[in-house]
Parts: sequence; structure tokens; C-alpha cells
Amino acid sequence: MRITILGGGGFLGRKLAARLAREGQLGGKAITSLTLFDLNVPPVPEAAFPVRRLAGDIAEPTAVAEAIPPGTDVVFHLAAVVSAAAEADFDLGMRVNLHGTLAVLEACRALEKAPRVVFTSSVASFGGGQDAVIPDDGRQLPANSYGAQKAVGELLLQDATRRGFLDAVSIRLPTVIVRPGRPNKAASSFVSAIVREPLLGLTTTCPVDPDFAIWACSPRRAVEWFLHAATMNTATLGLDRGINPPGLSVSVSELLGALEIVGGTEARSRVTFAPDPAIEAIVSGWPAAFTAERALTLGFTQQEDARAVLEAFLTDDLAATKAERAMS
Ligand SMILES: NC(=O)c1ccc[n+]([C@@H]2O[C@H](COP(=O)([O-])OP(=O)(O)OC[C@H]3O[C@@H](n4cnc5c(N)ncnc54)[C@H](O)[C@@H]3O)[C@@H](O)[C@H]2O)c1
Repeated sequence: MRITILGGGGFLGRKLAARLAREGQLGGKAITSLTLFDLNVPPVPEAAFPVRRLAGDIAEPTAVAEAIPPGTDVVFHLAAVVSAAAEADFDLGMRVNLHGTLAVLEACRALEKAPRVVFTSSVASFGGGQDAVIPDDGRQLPANSYGAQKAVGELLLQDATRRGFLDAVSIRLPTVIVRPGRPNKAASSFVSAIVREPLLGLTTTCPVDPDFAIWACSPRRAVEWFLHAATMNTATLGLDRGINPPGLSVSVSELLGALEIVGGTEARSRVTFAPDPAIEAIVSGWPAAFTAERALTLGFTQQEDARAVLEAFLTDDLAATKAERAMS
């Protein structure tokens, strides 16, 4: 089994690479090579099989073709410019999120055998806001450029699947929490920050009201969904290659309640509220809940509750986050 992770140096790409390296197999087949591709050379996971690491631009067709060599069985396409960055710089978002996905499509099309392509789309490809509960056949009406670029990517990959160029599964990821390390340029960065920073002993502000709710999942669950998307029988999907996975609808106050259980009242007291209209303008368009029945039928596993999400952060990422930020 030959695998490529585009965006293999990012938050989820590194977690996926580490999981594949640990297991040495995917869907019961031994992994014979793994290619990690990102803007900078991605870190190497400890693996019993060869790991190729490439630095390049996803919008450069020759670089992408090198990252998806003949014989590739599975491509995880995670490379992207995230939400607030794509909103701030339209040209960059179009180049990476749209033209990058086109380069992936062309590289897969050049292969002899159509590879499975797992594409990370987003909750941000939907509109509807706080009151929406998106059904499985809900229409994608993005209220930001990033979401529009993801929705277009899904459509292109779905048509490429119909034509037999590749075999796509697009996972419309919820907001993934708790993101380790430092705050990033995603508009949803605060959702991780309001629990991560207090657990590190730091104060932070929340730009939205306590009753603001998000559709969320943990990095552990996201990686489980990627692996399932890479190995599932896609014959049952028909033309509909977009998956609304079974995430968790959780409010800021519920997250802070879980923070208090896991980190105590002192940790909870480190969060104060400071409205930020720019962030609110982006995230308030995202739906806070989905029905996600089809995904459960297709074998995608249910996200655990908020307390489990925070406990997973403590187990998996607290020590590495402290080391990255030079904290004791
Ligand atoms: N983390 C979330 O909450 C979330 C939610 C919904 C969807 N997603 C999607 O999941 C995927 C992974 O998210 P993540 O949180 O790991 O993001 P990330 O920013 O940590 O990783 C994305 C990677 O893409 C790389 N990249 C950006 N521009 C590139 C270019 N021109 N060429 C090559 N690589 C480039 C970045 O360097 C980065 O390592 C992304 O496609 C993102 O849009 C994430």
C-alpha cells in the first residue's frame, strides 16, 4: 500500500502520519511507502517502512505529480489555507484551496489505477448559522471564500470520481479541538484556545458569547474518520462523495464546564469574554449541528463528549505543546 499525505506537516497531517507509522498497515494491507508533502519538509515519524518527505507548493502541478508517484493507492489531501487566512487573502485561498485541488486531480488522473482520495472539506462549506441543523442532503451555501473553495473542490473530485480518474471521499470536518501548539489563523482558533491556554496556566479571551455553539470533533476522531474514508467500500456512496461526519454540537459554556471538571475552577477563571466582530462575522455563519445519520450508517464513528475531548488533549498533546512553547 503506497500512501501520500498532502499537507503532511500540518496539525492533522502529522497526527495521521504518526498513526500510519505506528500501525504499519491500512485496511489490513501493509504500508510499503509513505510520502509526506508540505510547504516545508514535514517531520519524519518513526516507521518500519520508507518515508519520503517533500517540500513544495500544492498549486504547482509538477511538485504534486512528484508527491503522487505511479502506484499510489491512497492520497490524503489535507493541504490548505485555513479559513481566516483565505478570507484575508482571496488570491492565496484560490491558489492553494482551488488550484491546489485541481493539481491533485490532474496528478491522480495521470496514474494508471485510480487512487482513493480522502479530501478534507469543512463545516465552513455550509451556512445557516446557530439555529441550523443540517440534514444529510443539506445544501452547501458557504458564507466565506474558504468554504466556497472547499465546496468547489468537493464537486470537482466528485466529477473526477464519476469519470474514473480517482475515487474520492470528502469529509466535511467539524472544527477540530483541541488544537495543540499556538493559536493559528483559523477563525475558529479561539475554540481551542479557550481550553488549551487555561490548561497551560495562561489567560485568554473568548470573542463570542457563552451560548455560542460549534460543531466539533477531536483530532483523534478526525484521524479515525480519515482511515475509515481511506478503506471503506465506496460503491455504496454512489455519486454522493461528501460525508457529514458525526461530530459534537457543543457551546462555549459547555466547553468551559468541561474545562472546570478537567482543570479545576482556577483554569476556568483564566477565560474572559471580549467580543471580536471580525471573528464573529465568520463563525456565526457556520452551522452548529448536523444530523449526520448517513455517516453513522456508513461506519463513521461518533465523536465523544467535551470532557473526553479535553482529556485526550491532556494525554496526547499537553506535553508536546509545553515543549513547543518552551514552558515547563
Ligand atoms: N483543523 C480544523 O479545525 C479543520 C476543520 C475543517 C477542515 N479542516 C481541513 O483539514 C485540513 C487539515 O487541517 P489542519 O488543521 O491540519 O491545518 P494545517 O494548517 O495545520 O495544515 C494544512 C497544511 O497545508 C499546508 N499548506 C498550506 N499551503 C500550502 C501549499 N501552497 N502547498 C503545500 N502545502 C500547503 C500547510 O503548510 C499546513 O501544514 C485542511 O484542509 C483544513 O482546511 C480543518
